[in-house]
Amino acid sequence: MNHGADILLGLQWGDEGKGKIVDVLTKKYDVVARFQGGPNAGHTLEFNGIKHVLHTIPSGIFHENAMNIIGHGVVMDPVIFCKEIDKLMDLEPKCLERLQISRKAHLILPTHRLLDAASEAAKGKNKIGSTLKGIGPTYMDKTGRNGLRIGDIELPDFLDRYNALKAKHMHMLGDFVPVFDLDEAEAAWMAAIERLRPMQLADTDVLIQEAYKSGKRILAEGAQGTLLDVDFGTYPFVTSSTTTAAGACTGLGLAPNRIGDVLGIFKAYCTRVGSGPFPTELDNDLGQAIRDKGHEYGSTTGRPRRTGWLDLPALRYAVEINGVTQLMMMKADVLSGMKELEVCTSYTYRGETISHLPYSLEEDLLEPVYTTLPGWDEDLTGVTDVNDLPQALIDYTRFIEQETGVPVVLISVGPDREQTLWRA
Ligand code: IMP
Repeated sequence: MNHGADILLGLQWGDEGKGKIVDVLTKKYDVVARFQGGPNAGHTLEFNGIKHVLHTIPSGIFHENAMNIIGHGVVMDPVIFCKEIDKLMDLEPKCLERLQISRKAHLILPTHRLLDAASEAAKGKNKIGSTLKGIGPTYMDKTGRNGLRIGDIELPDFLDRYNALKAKHMHMLGDFVPVFDLDEAEAAWMAAIERLRPMQLADTDVLIQEAYKSGKRILAEGAQGTLLDVDFGTYPFVTSSTTTAAGACTGLGLAPNRIGDVLGIFKAYCTRVGSGPFPTELDNDLGQAIRDKGHEYGSTTGRPRRTGWLDLPALRYAVEINGVTQLMMMKADVLSGMKELEVCTSYTYRGETISHLPYSLEEDLLEPVYTTLPGWDEDLTGVTDVNDLPQALIDYTRFIEQETGVPVVLISVGPDREQTLWRA
C-alpha cells in the first residue's frame, strides 16, 4: 500500500527549524513541495560550513534526485525568487532542472507590497508586525478573485491584466506615499517575469497526483507555524495562509486520504517575531540570553525574535489540529546551562484552570501555569549518539511526550545537518 504523502510543518509561531529537517530528510523523498506562504518565510539550511536561506524554493533543492515543487498555495515575488535562484546557481547549477512551479500560484506585485505597508501604517499600535512582503494583500486578491497567477504570464493579455490590477491597487492606495520607488520596482519585477518564462511552469497538482500514483515518496513542506494559521492561529496576529496540515491538501492538490505521517517541528522553547499574544514570553534578561544563544533574529527581516518557555497547551493544540504523528524537537542545545526549566502546562483563564488554547490569549485574561523541571549543564553541540544525551534532557523530552501523547523521534542539537539525533 502507498504510505501517502508526509507533511512537515511548524507547531509554534514559525522559525522552528523546518528547513534544516527537510534538508536532513530529503534523501528519503522523491518529491519535496512547498504548499503555502511566500517570501515571508526564511528556511535556513547549514552544511559544509555554509548557511543557505530559502524563501520560496523548497528545501529539497540541494538533493539531486528530488523533484522540488512550488505548489499553487504559495504566493511568489518573482524578484525575490530570481535572487534566490542566482544565489543557488553557484552551488547547484542544475537547480532549475529540479524545480517545477505551479501555474496556479499567485504573483506578488510591487503594489501588493505597498498595500501591505499602507495597511500596517493604518493599524498604528495594533500593527501585525508583518514582514511587509505583500503576503496579506496577495492572498486577499486571490480569495477576492482578482489575483494574477503565474500561468497568466503565458497569456497574450498578461500586461493588460497586470495594469488592471495595478490600477485597482493605486486607487486603493489613494494618497499613501510609496515606501519605495515604484517605477524601479516595477522594472525589476517585469525583468524577473521574463526570467520565469523559460522555467518549468506546470500543473503541479497533476504532477503530485502522478507521483503519488506511481508510489513516489512525497514530502509537503510547510512555512510559518500553526499558531500563525489564518484560522487556528492567534488571530488577527497571524499570516494569511493555512499553515496547518489541511493547507497541504488545498495548496498542493493532495486528497486527505493520501496523507501519511505528519511531522511536527517545535523548539525546546518558544519564539515569536512580530506582534501578538505570547503567554510564556520572557521579556527579561533570561529571554535575552536565550535570544543571543539561539541566534533568535529573523532570517527574513533580521528582527529580534521574542523568546519564552515551552507552552504545552499550545503545542497540544497544534498536535491535534494537524494530526501530528511524530514530533521533532529543535534547539535543545540552547537550553544547556540552565539550572531549572519552566514548562507551561495549563493556563488560568478568567479565574479558571484550563489546558487548551482559548479564543483569546489577551494577557489580562490569561496566566500561564508552570511546572519546573531540572535543567542540564552539558554542551550538546558535539553529541553524536542519542545515548550520550544528559538524563535531564531525556526527562524533559519524556515529559513532552506524556503531555502530547506523541513520540519525539528526533532531537536537534545545532544548526548543521550532522547535529541531528534520531531516537527512533
Ligand atoms: P506576514 O505573513 O508577512 O504578513 O506576517 C504576519 C505575521 O506572521 C507577522 O507577525 C510575521 O512576523 C509572522 N511571520 C510571517 N512569516 C513568518 C515566518 O516565516 N516565520 C516567523 N514569523 C513569520
